[in-house]
Amino acid sequence: SFYNEKFRPQFHFTPEAHWMNDPNGMVFFEGEYHLFYQYYPNGTVWGPMHWGHAVSRDLVHWEHLPVALAPDEHGYIFSGSAVVDWKDSSGLFGGKPGLVAIFTHHRFDEEAQVVRQSQSIAYSADRGRTWLTYEGNPVLKGEGIVDFRDPKVFWHEPSQHWIMVLAVGDHARFYRSADLLNWTFCSEFGREEGSHDGVWECPDLFELPVEGSAGDKRWVLIISIGNEEGVPEGSRTQYFVGRFDGETFVNEESADQVLWLDHGRDNYAGVTWSDIPEEDGRRLFIGWMSNWKYANLTPTESWRGAMTLPRELWLKKETGGIRLYQKPVEELNSLRVRTVTLQERLVAAETQLLLESGNGLLEVEGTVNVNESGAAEFGFRLDYASGQSGTVGFDLKRSTVFIDRSGLEGDVPFHETFAGRHEASVQGDHETVTFRIYVDRSSVEIFANGGQAALTDLIFPESEEFELSFYSAGGSVEIVELNIHELASVYE
Ligand code: FRU
Repeated sequence: SFYNEKFRPQFHFTPEAHWMNDPNGMVFFEGEYHLFYQYYPNGTVWGPMHWGHAVSRDLVHWEHLPVALAPDEHGYIFSGSAVVDWKDSSGLFGGKPGLVAIFTHHRFDEEAQVVRQSQSIAYSADRGRTWLTYEGNPVLKGEGIVDFRDPKVFWHEPSQHWIMVLAVGDHARFYRSADLLNWTFCSEFGREEGSHDGVWECPDLFELPVEGSAGDKRWVLIISIGNEEGVPEGSRTQYFVGRFDGETFVNEESADQVLWLDHGRDNYAGVTWSDIPEEDGRRLFIGWMSNWKYANLTPTESWRGAMTLPRELWLKKETGGIRLYQKPVEELNSLRVRTVTLQERLVAAETQLLLESGNGLLEVEGTVNVNESGAAEFGFRLDYASGQSGTVGFDLKRSTVFIDRSGLEGDVPFHETFAGRHEASVQGDHETVTFRIYVDRSSVEIFANGGQAALTDLIFPESEEFELSFYSAGGSVEIVELNIHELASVYE
């Protein structure tokens, strides 16, 4: 059937055909989640950027819509955001609410032989179905700054202004506006903070309550950092926790502290949805599930690029500070078709076959007691019918969660940095370990320890079917509970 090509994700968003990178313009309006994305409709590698478009009512099933924005006299359409202009502050909607997209125009100035980036506006009065570019574009000029892009805009209630966060080379800048059309510089952040392993891209800024505190709130600043030669991890996403007063962001951590949003290799340029209704209240995130290290080389044919699972973000107070937690949205539970449950099983130091997956789509939720075991490691092996295999597990000596995809690159190796084992440290009492794992046709995601650590990795198994086994090494562990859910494809 359709959308069943080799490696085609069955419950992650992909374009029907051709190239996709960053998620853009995510906004909720009149019952629909909008997802725009960096799109090149004429090829399967990066090219002149458009905004592709899809909508969903449940974040799981997506309807593809025509291209929303195409290159014009100001250049390509790079990344950006969208908001609902509820009170028609822009004056573009005759007093009614409408959708406004704020994005980067990117062009090569032939005369001066330099790249020019500036911020522009497009608007839609028909629920995002058709878009007009604003006559006064660009609304914020780069003035000679080369890396000046990826505007994220939101309404800041206390100061009664729109705020724009912009990525400017090695720092972020904040601007404000009353009408989305005229922007004033407020401040900058970050030249000497966090990771500078690559150029700063795709910022986001939002406030969240802190779990484990009495009504405390903090602001989260998300910054993606670009791929640099010599940095083996390639593109990654970091975040800062601090305060924002409508003009200035102040980091609460020490300047050299680096906080990663995801410890796998394939979660980049992610930002959050705008205008989620208050009665829902979630902060919803999605990232591009690839890495500029090899994004143009992954072995898919008719399309290239996928999004991560949509996730809910929240803050939690830990001993070391306030940290960002994440979990896949619960709407995904609707894909469960059959569940196998195991309880209170002691697993000795050998591998036990749990299940054979015919369609290659699984979710595994579990709680494992590791207290008295002496085990050095436990986890799951994925043994594909093709003979390839990978591992998702916990290293109990180092207190880490890991994905090892060394054996899952596909028949033809495409990049020397792809194969590998990626890990994140897990905090906690170390008596029990909890996790949730998702396996799709070309990805693995694990959320460990109640959402404290996330890893997202692409994989390229040559077959769909695989065997799932549980193992422990160096001692036994007790499975307190394990739910293995066979998942349906969203195309069924
Ligand atoms: C991030 C990025 C953005 C830019 C877009 C271009 O992946 O480099 O900074 O707007 O991709 O496609």
